Amino acid sequence: MIGRLNHVAIAVRDIAKAAAVYRETLGAEVSAAVPQPDHGVTTVFITLPNTKIELLEPLGADSPIARFLERNPDGGIHHLCYEVDDIIAVRDQLKSRGARVLGDGEPRIGAHGKPVLFLHPKDFCGTLVEIEQAR
Ligand code: CO
Repeated sequence: MIGRLNHVAIAVRDIAKAAAVYRETLGAEVSAAVPQPDHGVTTVFITLPNTKIELLEPLGADSPIARFLERNPDGGIHHLCYEVDDIIAVRDQLKSRGARVLGDGEPRIGAHGKPVLFLHPKDFCGTLVEIEQAR
């Protein structure tokens, strides 16, 4: 049902510093920082040959990653994103298998301009999971 790993998202306090680690220490291809006020984060995308890394820095007063960074002051892996072909069909199947979909259960347009949903970490081995209808 799930397809490719679309990205691994890492929450950070200082996105310029984190981008420099990926660009200069790890030698990766790193985008400019893009503020995403609709999502309460600033993002940097790192393109790897087989997937992407997404750096997230809190933006605004009630950023969805603020609490995560309180618990993980050094930053950390925030979520994994898997691609799916039909997000509504996958959502309904996951619900029928007892998984909890976060929010109102309706897909939102995510940071890549594609429909996404988030799944409860307690149902997925302690990991917040995003599913994205990638095409
Ligand atoms: Co994501």
